[in-house]
Amino acid sequence: MTRREFISRSAEETVQKGRELALELKPPVVVRLSGELGAGKTTLTKGIISGLGAGTEEEVTSPTFTLVHVFHNHCKVYHVDLYRVEDFHDLETLALEDILAESAIIVVEWSERFSLRTDWPAVHVRLEHHGGDTRRITIADSPGELEQPAPGLGKKP
Ligand SMILES: Nc1ncnc2c1ncn2[C@@H]1O[C@H](COP(=O)(O)OP(=O)(O)OP(=O)(O)O)[C@@H](O)[C@H]1O
Ligand SMILES: [Mg+2]
Repeated sequence: MTRREFISRSAEETVQKGRELALELKPPVVVRLSGELGAGKTTLTKGIISGLGAGTEEEVTSPTFTLVHVFHNHCKVYHVDLYRVEDFHDLETLALEDILAESAIIVVEWSERFSLRTDWPAVHVRLEHHGGDTRRITIADSPGELEQPAPGLGKKP
């Protein structure tokens, strides 16, 4: 699937977008979420996790201290937040290698902080503040595609 872009006007719309995205996810896959503080990464994850039937929206919180939350259903679903991960030693304590050893769906907030060593398929999602409660959500298969200008903007010379 190529690059897609949406405007969300509320947290509820972002949760709904996460639910829609969940329908496309088949393990093994890493969902790499990027975007500033409060952009809506955790909110989107609430939709993804509940859409997968792996947990309720309320169960999905910012994994500030535990850093990794595990939900079981038809496959393992992990919610990882790299915001407080300072260095590779911290990263090792998450034991992501163990997680990546078996098929799963992994949702990673602040994925731009570290490049995870895996050849698993990835979905890249960028969330951006777009004024008030509005967010721009861009979904692509590769980081390069994420950077492409929106259709109709930035025409090539
Ligand atoms: N359109 C929207 N989409 C998502 N969240 C929204 C939207 N409008 C308002 N909000 C609010 O913005 C906040 C987003 O917080 P959230 O924890 O999802 O962001 P985050 O990207 O995970 O931040 P952090 O980097 O701290 O982890 C929530 O309080 C949510 O209610
Ligand atoms: Mg968050």
